[in-house]
Amino acid sequence: MQTTLVLSSTAVLAVWCIYRLLQVGSRDPRMPKGPPTVPILGNLLQLPLTGIHKKFRDWAEEYGGVYSLKFGPNNAIVLCDRKAVHELLDKKGILYSDRPHTYVGSLMTQGDHMVVSSLDTLTREKRKVATHNFSPKMLQERAAHIQDAETTVLLLDFLDNPKDFYTHVRRVTASIANILIFGQRGATYDSFWGRCVYDALDRFGEALEPGANPPVDEFPFLRFWPTRWAGWKQRAFSAGRAMDKIWSTALETVEKRRSIGDVRECIADRLIDEYNEKGYPFSRHAFMMLLGEMCEGGAETTSSSMLTMILAITKYSEVQRKARLQIDAVSPLWSDFKDIPYVNAIVKEGMRWRPVISSGLPHKNKEDDYYEGMLIPKDSTIFLPVWALNNWDAQGFSDPEIYNPDRYINHPKLANDYAGSADYKDRDKFSAYLLVYPLIDA
Ligand code: HEM
Repeated sequence: MQTTLVLSSTAVLAVWCIYRLLQVGSRDPRMPKGPPTVPILGNLLQLPLTGIHKKFRDWAEEYGGVYSLKFGPNNAIVLCDRKAVHELLDKKGILYSDRPHTYVGSLMTQGDHMVVSSLDTLTREKRKVATHNFSPKMLQERAAHIQDAETTVLLLDFLDNPKDFYTHVRRVTASIANILIFGQRGATYDSFWGRCVYDALDRFGEALEPGANPPVDEFPFLRFWPTRWAGWKQRAFSAGRAMDKIWSTALETVEKRRSIGDVRECIADRLIDEYNEKGYPFSRHAFMMLLGEMCEGGAETTSSSMLTMILAITKYSEVQRKARLQIDAVSPLWSDFKDIPYVNAIVKEGMRWRPVISSGLPHKNKEDDYYEGMLIPKDSTIFLPVWALNNWDAQGFSDPEIYNPDRYINHPKLANDYAGSADYKDRDKFSAYLLVYPLIDA
């Protein structure tokens, strides 16, 4: 009798465990719709290794502008709808400005990188530094003359050696970032300051490449995989060491020059002075990473955008002709930018057509929330698929694959000026970027 009771309880427990296990990966019916899931893995197997930005739009066409995905037990919500981005990210920024923690990211950066870390006190402090130093006012005051000087060199480089246009563009944005941040110019692409940021980002990108790691954030037991048999962990550690070497060399160079009395007008020097006086709010590692992160944020995004513009105006020669007419009528310096609205439209259209961070950087919500009756569970990964948002007819872009700067001709001001508008429809569509930019509302 007792044996039968034990056997039947064990059977009930086993059935219950199997039932619960099979529930992993399935969607809460209160959440937005989304592609069908399979037990345990959810939608993980449907994620393409490349071209996820297009997949985000395909799913939006099928399931609507707000839909959900399951990554194992974890929830993801995709906001491919400008109104939803505005209602959630913009109006409830405090709830949505966190980032999902990534295990591989923390192995690599020791938790000292804004892009892959949760919004703790350290990250808040770092965002404050970045927001302050890269505010439109600061850029106007401190960056404009540096940009004017460096772009003049760029034009000369194009004339002297047009074949190497790719490295000229990469050098110029790295150099501008390094002057602003470290007070150090990258005179050539092969110099430390001309390419350190690309070397760091190559390693960072390699370690986090889609498909490069097992789904450790979804199934945390994978963390116990011994490092000596986990090539993915070794890659993360090695990338971390390479990045540390680059950013510590950068900081040490600044310290060495300061030690001989050469103090410069740049972010690193200003922060060192400030922190020497009132104390460092974070460790040395976090500080050097912060300087590196700002450089990473500023250099490759801008060089890739510029290279996109070059591609676009090469392909669309009429656009190039119209731009040249405007440019030939001015110097051109940053102070002339307001007088060349067509060039402004070229930049915005390039960022719509081929956005640099095509799927955005994911956010996380820290509490349960509802949007139009749909549940957005606490700790969901929130995707803002920048390419899909800007390349979908349903979001107001007809013939989105065509590069056409005239789309922005009625928005001659900087995107930042429109991003502040209370009515999201009144913004130029490029500000879908700015709409979600934590640097603005941090
Ligand atoms: C063409 C230029 C740029 C593009 C396309 C771009 C794009 C983006 C995007 C899509 C994000 C994610 C926003 C979000 O949270 O949803 C981001 C974050 C960030 N950007 Fe930019 N960016 C550009 C230039 C810059 C510059 C010049 C800096 C200079 C410091 C910068 C620093 C950062 C930082 C630090 C973050 C992360 C903030 C955080 O995680 O809290 N970016 N960028």
